[in-house]
Amino acid sequence: MNMRVVTSVQEMQQHALSLKRAGRKIALVPTMGYLHEGHLSLVALARARADVVVLSLFVNPIQFLPGEDLASYPRDFERDRALCERAGVDFVFHPDPGEMYAAEHSVFVEETSLSNVLCGACRPGHFRGVTSVVAKLFNIILPDIAVFGQKDAQQCRIIQRMVRDLNFPVEIVVGSIVREPDGLAKSSRNKYLSPQDRQHALCLRRSLDIAEIMVREGERSVEVIRESVKAVIAAVPGAVIDYVALVDNETLAPVVLIQRPVLVALAVRIGGTRLIDNTVLG
Ligand code: PAJ
Repeated sequence: MNMRVVTSVQEMQQHALSLKRAGRKIALVPTMGYLHEGHLSLVALARARADVVVLSLFVNPIQFLPGEDLASYPRDFERDRALCERAGVDFVFHPDPGEMYAAEHSVFVEETSLSNVLCGACRPGHFRGVTSVVAKLFNIILPDIAVFGQKDAQQCRIIQRMVRDLNFPVEIVVGSIVREPDGLAKSSRNKYLSPQDRQHALCLRRSLDIAEIMVREGERSVEVIRESVKAVIAAVPGAVIDYVALVDNETLAPVVLIQRPVLVALAVRIGGTRLIDNTVLG
């Protein structure tokens, strides 16, 4: 099947309805575009699990806060389209903001617990924008499965909670973090980094390595590990910590000792670019 690019909500929903009626299994990979190998690894997971792969490409205005990078968020549709075609995507859903949000749009989906910590504390309202757009995408594309990346670990947990609490008939699949050869997690926002920032940005992965080594060597105190992680980042000029958090991997609740899997999540500004990364300990 030739790949199709669909910009109309109604047309996408009609395709989805007829595919469902024909008994086809649909997988959705939601993205904001400027695709890299991280996104493409999610497409591969989707391809292996479904008959039809839909990649949505939409820079969702309502998940950006005032003053964030909505206007400058990198975009290159022709490149993305070619990558999708090569990766075996069947439909690219690429609506305009006006097609997704009516001028008087007034209904939102809000997760009220997991969304308040980590990135949610630094970016109030961000996850409300994410859950709202993902709920809309589920209603438009009717996927049997939806694939998200562990790179945004908190986003994964919140989407899983939304699916559970609102009974979406969608299975959530989580793909592991794809990194550059030197360890930097792939991100569309890496484009903002100057060559020097790019070097400095390696402190994120390096600090997670330290945490992993400490646990392997028997350290169980979250506070001791947190201080070591912070020290690695603080030693880098121009690195500003938004947060370094060690939380329960499932509930994102604070923990004192590493007894069950613990998520180490970082948000660090490097030369003004906000980067996130994480690893799971134990
Ligand atoms: P975006 O940042 O484009 O990411 C789309 C998906 O790719 C997310 O599930 C993200 O976790 C995953 N991803 C990003 N970098 C990755 C990497 N290095 N390895 C593996 N997966 C990676 O996340 C969003 O868009 C938006 O919030 C969205 C869910 C599309 C809602 O607007």
